Formats: sequence, C-alpha cells, structure tokens
Amino acid sequence: MQINVGIITISDRASRGQYDDLGGPALKRAAEGYGWKVLTESLVPDEMTDIQRGIREQIAKGCELILTTGGTGVALRDVTPEAVREIAIRELPGFGEIMRIESMKITSNAILSRNLAVVVEKTLVICLPGKPSGAVECLGFVVGAIPHCVEVLQEVPTSC
Ligand code: MTE
Repeated sequence: MQINVGIITISDRASRGQYDDLGGPALKRAAEGYGWKVLTESLVPDEMTDIQRGIREQIAKGCELILTTGGTGVALRDVTPEAVREIAIRELPGFGEIMRIESMKITSNAILSRNLAVVVEKTLVICLPGKPSGAVECLGFVVGAIPHCVEVLQEVPTSC
C-alpha cells in the first residue's frame, strides 16, 4: 500500500526561527526514498499540548505514519515521549529498543535517547532523535517493520 506520511519537527529554537529546521527536510527525503507520500509537515515547540495537537491534526489529514524528530533526549525541555504516551493507545517497545541498540554502534550518547513508537488512533507514530542524521539513521534501523505495521493498523489484508 502507499503510505501517507506526516512529519513533525519538535524544537523550541527552530519553531522560533532561531535556526533552520534540517531534521524535517532530511526525514522527508528519507520517506520519499522509501516510496512513501509525505502529506504534511509541521514545526512545533517542545510543549506537550503543541506536540499532541500536531499529531491529531496530521491524523485528521489522513497520515497513517507520523515521524517526529526532536525532544527525545535528557534535557528538561525534552517532552516528546511524555506527550505521545499520553495520547497513545499502545506503545511498540521494539522500535525504541532496536534504535538504541543499533545507534550505540555509532555513538555512545545513543543510550541517552528515548526514541519510541506508539499507536495513536490507527496511526503509527515514530519518535526519532533531533539530530537530522540520527533521525534518518534510526528510521533506517526500523523501516523493515513499518509497512506491515501500518497495514495491520489500517486493517488492510496482509499475507502474515
Ligand atoms: N542515534 C543515531 N543513530 N545517530 C546519532 O548521531 N545522536 C544521539 C542519540 N541518538 C545519534 C543517535 C545523541 S547525540 C543524543 S544526545 C541522543 O540521541 C538524544 O537525541 P535528541 O535529544 O536529539 O532526541
């Protein structure tokens, strides 16, 4: 199936225009490279309500997969995991586990990341690091499971 994707950059500084959003465009290129259709892109500050509203808006626009970048670290302003867990119907722990294990081969700071994947309504939401290269790398570690997961959530007949 064609996967309709939404991308959300979560960053106080990028949303204030203090620096350019590089993570969103990097994820857009990666998503298009996987053959997916990017329907919408948003930029929100590190605020629970803005993150949650951004996800709900993209779901309303028809996104079956939402990729976020930013807010998964240890800084006190990093609240992406808390925001998505609060609106999720379930978490898929394997995504975060694999992203951290594979990323540790690249940088020991990966142990600090709180990357995760959850289901909101019928949409798979994957929360990736803020560093653009890290976000693209982490997406690459889990991409193999995404089409099947989206098909199951959208109740498309699958072969397994
Ligand atoms: N994962 C991969 N694959 N590659 C990276 O370069 N950077 C890390 C890490 N995960 C990185 C990565 C760094 S530097 C940090 S501090 C943590 O994710 C938390 O990232 P975040 O605060 O941008 O969400």
